Amino acid sequence: MRKKIVAGNWKMNKDIEEGVSLISEILELSKSVELSAKEEIVIIPPFIHLTEAKKKLGSSEVKIGAQNVHHKAEGAYTGEVSSRMLASIDMDYCLVGHSERRTYQKETDEQMLGKTRQLLEAGIQPIFCLGESLEERESDRYFEVVKSQLTVIFTLSEEEFSNVVIAYEPVWAIGTGKTASSDQAQEIHAYLRRLISEKYGEAVANDTTILYGGSCKPENAADLFSKEDVDGGLIGGASLDAQSFIGIIKAL
Ligand code: PGA
Repeated sequence: MRKKIVAGNWKMNKDIEEGVSLISEILELSKSVELSAKEEIVIIPPFIHLTEAKKKLGSSEVKIGAQNVHHKAEGAYTGEVSSRMLASIDMDYCLVGHSERRTYQKETDEQMLGKTRQLLEAGIQPIFCLGESLEERESDRYFEVVKSQLTVIFTLSEEEFSNVVIAYEPVWAIGTGKTASSDQAQEIHAYLRRLISEKYGEAVANDTTILYGGSCKPENAADLFSKEDVDGGLIGGASLDAQSFIGIIKAL
């Protein structure tokens, strides 16, 4: 089902105490927000927060996701976390292919596809991130780049793909304060939806949630979210402050 989602990716920020208090604030402030059945708030804290965060969220409507998962089911992979472990603490979502992991952990297409498959098997919705670098944008290669990133998961069946959320995050806009204009975001979102339609058909494409990420703030969220193919946002920096995170949610 196509949803409107505002997801807060905390990245490597907040210790347990700070995390618990951020969630309390989000829960308190979110009381003033009316969500329809097609709208969701998601928090995506670091692994060590997940169990506590899940408890804290209790029966609230706020959903929760992890930032990463391993591409294999289990085994001798010290320091890694499997999709089955995430499922055992009832994760709703998990990021795959965030540009920071593509850059710093040198994640490969094969690993990203493996992670996506592991999550789907465990009943967790992947949020598959993609986006071009500044150099790729400036040399007008961005259509080709996002196409090659998206088609990595085009070996999924139609049913599997229907459970994937896409996040378009131009690398030049992440944590830089430089947001893509709403027209730039719409252009890529419409293009991604067209590629999905060509592969899986119009119904699946129309049902796919495509989020925008990259310096999204309360000040620019309403403009971005007003675009036809922008179904919400993946928020980094601004999700670390409850007021600004809720400000973005209100823009939905
Ligand atoms: P940002 O990060 O909002 O801080 O730019 C977005 C993201 O990386 O998900």
